Amino acid sequence: MNILLIGSGGREHALAWKIHHSPLLDRLFIAPGNGGTRPYGEHPDLDVADHGAVVEFCRANEIGLVVIGPEAPLVAGLADDLREAGFATFGPSAAAAQLEGSKQFTKALCERKAIPTAASGHFTDAAKAREYITMVGAPIVVKADGLAAGKGVTVAMTVEEAHAAVDDCFDGSFGSAGAEVVIEAYLEGEEASAFFLCDGKNALPFGTAQDHKRAYDGDTGPNTGGMGAYSPAPVLTPELEAEVMQRIVQPTLDGMAEAGTPFSGVLYAGLMLSADGPQLIEYNVRFGDPECQVLMVRLESDLVPLLLSCANGDLAGQSAEWSDDFALTIVMAAKGYPGAYEKGTRITALDALYDDQIEVFHAGTEARDERIHAIGGRVLAVTSKAPTATEAQQLAYYAVEEVNWPEGFWRTDIGARAVEREKS
Ligand code: AMP
Ligand code: GLY
Repeated sequence: MNILLIGSGGREHALAWKIHHSPLLDRLFIAPGNGGTRPYGEHPDLDVADHGAVVEFCRANEIGLVVIGPEAPLVAGLADDLREAGFATFGPSAAAAQLEGSKQFTKALCERKAIPTAASGHFTDAAKAREYITMVGAPIVVKADGLAAGKGVTVAMTVEEAHAAVDDCFDGSFGSAGAEVVIEAYLEGEEASAFFLCDGKNALPFGTAQDHKRAYDGDTGPNTGGMGAYSPAPVLTPELEAEVMQRIVQPTLDGMAEAGTPFSGVLYAGLMLSADGPQLIEYNVRFGDPECQVLMVRLESDLVPLLLSCANGDLAGQSAEWSDDFALTIVMAAKGYPGAYEKGTRITALDALYDDQIEVFHAGTEARDERIHAIGGRVLAVTSKAPTATEAQQLAYYAVEEVNWPEGFWRTDIGARAVEREKS
């Protein structure tokens, strides 16, 4: 089968690496891919924002499955256009992608289906939002309604901080994403993520992970797309995972189907494990980045038939096999990220890292004349797999130290919580 994979992040490198191992694969095309995806497939010159061109490409190359990695093309309706043209596509329709594209959409669904989540208010007017905050008090959480690349959320410890966050949203800091805000009660507990493959009706649990969103050690500094992750999330026991399926994910699939917008693809549930049980913080309609990297190194099943079943609506009865090992990934980012950073710096010594317990997934890199250059904010996801969190952490940091990239930085405490748990 010929497969087209869309995206350019570390997530897509991990997907390409896994798809490449599938016995079902004939040709893999990656658009646009990155400096690390070259060995796994062909990189056609294809503008993925031009849906007509993507459909044409699929016809010309007899594509049997399209896998869409990032949220933006999903929200733009690429999956709809591909399906309408008859191509099996992994990823939700634009209407179903609203689960990530609009916080208010998800809040309304939670209300309809009695899904546990933080109480919230929805505002299109700064003055009313400020008033609500004054009334409810802090701590409180302010969220820009639309897609803000994971950066539109402020967890405010004071009313003043929350007011400032509202002003930022309405001042246009997040473009049209901030024209509406959701203000939410602050939830206490440990955060974890759970992934579910979905075919419109059925969901298959597809691993758990925890990530590190802040830029610097000790969860300080600005929010980022994610500076590291590990899987499984030890705090999400099989019992809790079953509860998440029953109280959160299945009602979501039912509600989406009832609304005429069934969800297929991967549903990524961001959860707070509160004293009252798991609460939904947010949905993403794609794999996490870098969570995908740790899931893929632990997945023992062939990924391709699972993704095809999501696309074809026949996921019922399928299962996925996982390694009992622990996987951990450390993101190496360009100094300055998530603010301004230098582009075009050179990375060397990557070849020294051949080890069957380590995979270096690329994100913002470009291969020029056989050399790897950093061209993005998050640049590498150095990923390890080992029997324990402690060993996985040691291995991944060993590998990070081997990479020669003076313009990069990384957090030094990825996995600390899981390692701590192993000691107790
Ligand atoms: P989100 O983009 O919605 O995942 O939010 C980003 C981060 O903000 C989450 O990972 C949480 O750490 C935090 N957060 C979001 N909503 C809440 C909430 N209601 N209570 C506490 N923390 C939250
Ligand atoms: N790592 C967080 C995300 O992919 O949204």
